[in-house]
Amino acid sequence: MPDPLGTALETAREAGRLLRDYAGRDLEVSHKSTAIDLVTEADLASERLIVDAIRRHFPGHTILSEEGLGDLQQLAGESEYLWLVDPLDGTVNYAHGLPVWGVSVALAQRGRPVLAVTYDPVRDEMYWARRGEGAWCNERRIRVSATEHLSQALVATGFPYGRATLEENNLLEFNAMMPQVQGVRRAGAAVLDLAHVAAGRLDAYWEMFLQPWDWAAGWLLVEEAGGTVTDLQGQPWVLSTAAIAASNGALHGEVLGVLQHARGEA
Ligand code: IPD
Ligand code: CA
Ligand code: CA
Repeated sequence: MPDPLGTALETAREAGRLLRDYAGRDLEVSHKSTAIDLVTEADLASERLIVDAIRRHFPGHTILSEEGLGDLQQLAGESEYLWLVDPLDGTVNYAHGLPVWGVSVALAQRGRPVLAVTYDPVRDEMYWARRGEGAWCNERRIRVSATEHLSQALVATGFPYGRATLEENNLLEFNAMMPQVQGVRRAGAAVLDLAHVAAGRLDAYWEMFLQPWDWAAGWLLVEEAGGTVTDLQGQPWVLSTAAIAASNGALHGEVLGVLQHARGEA
């Protein structure tokens, strides 16, 4: 069997190259769940490239990919080997020419990520992890930050595409967190937010209504970098969870406390 990590690294790099080529072109853009949920021809071309490579090397594996070119578009049952693919994370940034976007590929075995690759083509930063072997950015081992107090923390979040009509639009949580920390960033690319928590550049991150391809790689990267990933109630993270809290571990209780208080849960 070919090496799944080698395949994931190579295909993420190729997808990054493709996306850099498309960036700046006049792109065909369509809408998905809402008017602000975009898909461009670059998302589709990147997904085609990644899905084809996985199928070629691992014909027996199942692929869950965002734009529907894989086998599944939502979790269904439990596959022995399931690839989770976000061919372009940060599509809204990408469509505006804002250089904050990435590619993410993860492999889960019986519901548990065992391999993670997140590539930031703009900075040429390849984040990767294999369960039990630590987390890496290019050749460098990465670790979560050592920040111990929320008042010294830089954290990040994101807002759901359905925020115009959703009651749970994350604004209560955002308002509660902002005065407690050095900053709350909303960069617009969940896979990079999670990679930055793993690399110790961000101390924590939370978001609701994510899809499995948004966080599958980041979950493993953060855990392998020594951090903690749970749902917003502090329950262990599983593939079907949609609301995520990831942190350096030391701040996890405080982060959950602020979010739960904002939600009237504590
Ligand atoms: C989105 C981005 C964004 C996050 C959204 C995601 P997409 O992914 O990661 O930061 O706030 O929840 O859906 O649509 O650009 O792949
Ligand atoms: Ca995404
Ligand atoms: Ca995407």
